Amino acid sequence: MTTTTTTTTTVLDASGVTMRFGGLTAVRSVDLTVGSGEIVGLIGPNGAGKTTFFNCLTGLYIPTEGTVTYKGTVLPPKPHLVTQAGIARTFQNIRLFANMTVLENVLVGRHTRTKEGLWSALLRLPGFKKAEEESRDRAMELLEFTGLAAKADHLARNLPYGEQRKLEIARALASEPGLLLLDEPTAGMNPQETRATEELVFAIRDKGIAVLVIEHDIRFIMNLCDRVAVLVQGEKLVEGPAEVVQADERVIAAYLGTPFEGAPGKEELAEVEAAEAEAHSTTEGDAK
Ligand SMILES: Nc1ncnc2c1ncn2[C@@H]1O[C@H](COP(=O)(O)OP(=O)(O)O)[C@@H](O)[C@H]1O
Ligand SMILES: [Mg+2]
Repeated sequence: MTTTTTTTTTVLDASGVTMRFGGLTAVRSVDLTVGSGEIVGLIGPNGAGKTTFFNCLTGLYIPTEGTVTYKGTVLPPKPHLVTQAGIARTFQNIRLFANMTVLENVLVGRHTRTKEGLWSALLRLPGFKKAEEESRDRAMELLEFTGLAAKADHLARNLPYGEQRKLEIARALASEPGLLLLDEPTAGMNPQETRATEELVFAIRDKGIAVLVIEHDIRFIMNLCDRVAVLVQGEKLVEGPAEVVQADERVIAAYLGTPFEGAPGKEELAEVEAAEAEAHSTTEGDAK
């Protein structure tokens, strides 16, 4: 474990963020902070405004009202400048360069951090050899970190779905962010892949990167997050520690609905986990 002091500094501070599209207010006066060393979750039903809120944080949208600061500085209203400032993201719908290799996709993610830029990385212009080598080393390190190193030369489009999601994370990390925003990172994943993603997010946090994650999978969020905020119809309904939010009646009514009555307790969870572990150990041979 890290030996950080107990004082958390605010990495992200979104204050009174409102986003209107014509007559529709998709996000209404939302305040949210993320501190260093934190994993914060953002949940809410479909259409609640989660992705729109992310887009306001990353310069894709300019909020109608409100301010967003990163480490005390107001963010510039352009995605590449936000990335340069230190915020990286993944997308709800995977956005990879399908016909580039896995390694090339990560190299693209590095271009905001190398003054030589994107084209030298891709075209391998002469005179940039050293920077290129450093970039490749770093990109390979990130592929090892995310478990994709063996597939560095595969085309992104040939990766199974779960690995494409991982690659998006590796690419986001390539910009050396201080804050990582993940938009539904486990969408479409099986329980094993979800579990692996959980481990990956913990490992990212342990590297000193703060994480803000949107998710539908309630169990994933509750396991993972130090703090959870709930968006409903564009407004922040509740915010607090995972256990508190999970037990809040308003959240149960607005978000979880009736299925929550059947939600697994500790014993059932243990059973499911044991079954998953067993399934994992019996399929491990094929996976390698
Ligand atoms: N670019 C846009 N133009 C108009 N309406 C939008 C746009 N983006 C999102 N919305 C609307 O804003 C609301 C919130 O959407 P979204 O942020 O995608 O929700 P979530 O990610 O929580 O499912 C929805 O009603 C959606 O239709
Ligand atoms: Mg969304």
